Amino acid sequence: MAIEQTFSIIKPNAVKKNVLGNIVEQFESNGLKIAACKLSLISKSKCEEFYAEHKARPFFGELVAFMTSGPVLLMVLSGENAVLKNREIMGATDPKKATVGTIRAKFGDSMGENAVHGSDSPTSAAREIALFFERNEIVNL
Ligand code: CMP
Repeated sequence: MAIEQTFSIIKPNAVKKNVLGNIVEQFESNGLKIAACKLSLISKSKCEEFYAEHKARPFFGELVAFMTSGPVLLMVLSGENAVLKNREIMGATDPKKATVGTIRAKFGDSMGENAVHGSDSPTSAAREIALFFERNEIVNL
């Protein structure tokens, strides 16, 4: 299978818990590699653009406020079947429903503060990566 890229965010609540290494270890031990990475604060306008598909949802304002409340770790992850693999490693959106051992089950606090984001398709991955990374910031693995 071809190597695929996906976009990952370690969200402000997980950064505050000081578990970046633990989360990255879960990606790496499951065969994903970091192709790009930066610790960053996301602006309100960039966050609204990133989550544009959720604009009409009642939780949109809360989601943007939370995601801009502190630093996040932005990453491009690379590997075979990376989009699906990342979603399996993260677990269900709602930490209460996430399989034991997944990142969201371990470090998620609620549906909104669910520790990590991962692209839901290769098309979303391409859009999301381009929003946050220049081509020359991503290494070929
Ligand atoms: P994420 O993978 O970042 O994509 C969109 C986010 O919206 C999702 O994770 C959740 O954090 C958040 N979200 C989705 N549904 C709800 C909900 N019902 N209430 C609050 N937040 C939600």
